Amino acid sequence: MIEFERKIRMRRPDDWHLHLRDGNILNSVVAHTARTFRRAVIMPNLQPPITDIQKAIDYRQRILDAIPDGLSFTPLMTAYLTDDLMPNVLEKGFREGVFFAAKLYPANSTTNSAFGVTNIEKIYSTVEIMEKIGLPLLIHGEVSDPHVDVFDREAVFIERHLDPLLKRFQNLQVVLEHITTKDAVQYVQNSQSRLAATITPHHLHINRNAMFKGGLRSDYFCLPVAKREYHRVALRQAAVSGEPCFFLGTDSAPHLRQFKESSCGCAGIFNAPYAIESYAQVFDEEGAIDRLEPFASEFGPAFYGLPLNEDHIILVQRPQLVQDRIEIQNFDQGKDYIVPFHAGETLRWSIQV
Ligand code: NCD
Ligand code: ZN
Repeated sequence: MIEFERKIRMRRPDDWHLHLRDGNILNSVVAHTARTFRRAVIMPNLQPPITDIQKAIDYRQRILDAIPDGLSFTPLMTAYLTDDLMPNVLEKGFREGVFFAAKLYPANSTTNSAFGVTNIEKIYSTVEIMEKIGLPLLIHGEVSDPHVDVFDREAVFIERHLDPLLKRFQNLQVVLEHITTKDAVQYVQNSQSRLAATITPHHLHINRNAMFKGGLRSDYFCLPVAKREYHRVALRQAAVSGEPCFFLGTDSAPHLRQFKESSCGCAGIFNAPYAIESYAQVFDEEGAIDRLEPFASEFGPAFYGLPLNEDHIILVQRPQLVQDRIEIQNFDQGKDYIVPFHAGETLRWSIQV
């Protein structure tokens, strides 16, 4: 019997949630996304964060300068909301085609969120303008209240903050980013609002046990933190459901090895180098490989009102070994590296080049 390689030709995907960092890291990581994805929503949690139009323009240019020749990639820029970011800055940035969306980090909820919003009600007047002009609000949906158990912070956020927000701003376009719980899946599914959610590859692959397998494994630590198995199952069902309110956002979040491997390791998983292959494996395992294309390439543009990409990529069912590290040329501290998600594993799908 001759067994043919399984192949999928799919519309080129976009990444609706991506951290590219800056400087040497940006220069080393952007190609991993640009080789597969046509567009990406770029997170603004730099140090200092992207809080004005000029910073976003300059950062966009640095990203464009870092893209290798021959690749076509569009960074979609976001503004980092703070308690006192002026709505007229958002409006001007949006009208000038600089800001694609604005990102809400509850203060101290995740990496570089110290300047985030201390209380969502404080920025309601800004949100009102966003609703009026049609600027989407992207939310890191976790409370930072230290009294709330870290595994409950997403569910509590939905109840305490998201639900009241959506009730008040019924025309606001909102994305609940990188959802991790069954609670979030059900909330988004049942919502009557203009609400969608992104789902990462890692939350489809791992549950919270991954962080403690044989020791403390910071490579699997991200925020929101991976939850119990039944949450992972719910996320997989949502991703392959064919419901347009769930779409791809990798939350690829590179951190140098030295900052992951420390007594206070950073949150974030760098999945960009093998992101679409990682999603393909999940969809295939769920018997839903035909639903990968709408999840990865159609529902995002439909939600944001953007055209679909016109070119295609081809995935083949051909095993590939994931490399242990991605080298970064760090001129200040010598050579450093980032460990990609799935390091040392063999993935079943590859991109045909
Ligand atoms: C992100 C980062 O490192 O910037 N970390 C993460 O664990 N996902 C921030 C974020 O999206 O929460
Ligand atoms: Zn993120």
